[in-house]
Amino acid sequence: MAEWPARLVLVGAGKMGGAMAHGWLEAGLAASSLMIVEPHPSPEIASLAASRGVVLATGITAPPPDVLALAVKPQSLDKVAPEIAALAAERTLVLSILAGKTIANLEARLPEARAFVRAMPNTPAAIGRGVTAAFANASVTGEQRRWCERLLGAMGAFYWLEQEDAIDAVTAISGGGPAYVFALTEALAAAAERLGLPAELSMSLARGTIEGAGELMRRQGATPPATLRRNVTSPGGTTAAALAVLEGPGGLEDLMIRAAAAARARAAEMAG
Ligand SMILES: NC(=O)c1ccc[n+]([C@@H]2O[C@H](COP(=O)([O-])OP(=O)(O)OC[C@H]3O[C@@H](n4cnc5c(N)ncnc54)[C@H](OP(=O)(O)O)[C@@H]3O)[C@@H](O)[C@H]2O)c1
Repeated sequence: MAEWPARLVLVGAGKMGGAMAHGWLEAGLAASSLMIVEPHPSPEIASLAASRGVVLATGITAPPPDVLALAVKPQSLDKVAPEIAALAAERTLVLSILAGKTIANLEARLPEARAFVRAMPNTPAAIGRGVTAAFANASVTGEQRRWCERLLGAMGAFYWLEQEDAIDAVTAISGGGPAYVFALTEALAAAAERLGLPAELSMSLARGTIEGAGELMRRQGATPPATLRRNVTSPGGTTAAALAVLEGPGGLEDLMIRAAAAARARAAEMAG
């Protein structure tokens, strides 16, 4: 069984597709196995392709590959699908990261293909620290699943989903999650300013705290976040006073539940 697909065509090498190509080559995909199709390659992609010897094409001329990875914008699919339909043969695995595009939708556009995987990465994938979850339809073989584990695992943590509609919940949690953390950073900085600290120092304290706490949680991977929280919370102390507000009614958990529900509802509305 091959660890990597022998031939992989990546369609769309923007922010996410570019990060994937970079991650795959770093993780050991042979440059000769990869072809990137991108009409307007960024200087980074052009230099990655040139330095590694990856074929970079502006249009599609190749025979059907083992894996056809789709990373164009969802709104580009109407234009792209007819151009790539000939690349999706019966034996080709179609691996899509297009937000909101269901497998039924992709099947209708790529009628020869049988095996489809729909994945939802997040932006820290660009630094190899993403979280990706994916659903495979019943036609995906064991070998194709292992390719996906390699390809999607090259961007960070990877999990399989049992149901396709769980993608909407994943979108609401890890897909949008980096934005929630950035918003938390902004809120912490705003609170610092309210307490009278200068704006620049407020942002430095907030950023450093979120970065440091995230890294601490990563390095102490076996320790539950609740334990890490208790470790910095003396009974009757200052952190306990803040947590009494954050954990009260309408507090952080309630807010996060409402925010995630709103995101999932929007993802379900947009799916098609
Ligand atoms: N960014 C995220 O956080 C994130 C998270 C999860 C999923 N996704 C999904 O990832 C996908 C890509 O997002 P992105 O942020 O990477 O977008 P992006 O930076 O705009 O990348 C899309 C790329 O596809 C290229 N493209 C357009 N038409 C093409 C064609 N006919 N053939 C080949 N390439 C073509 C675009 O080129 P031009 O610039 O010339 O149009 C662009 O470089 C989206 O479907 C999104 O839903 C993104």
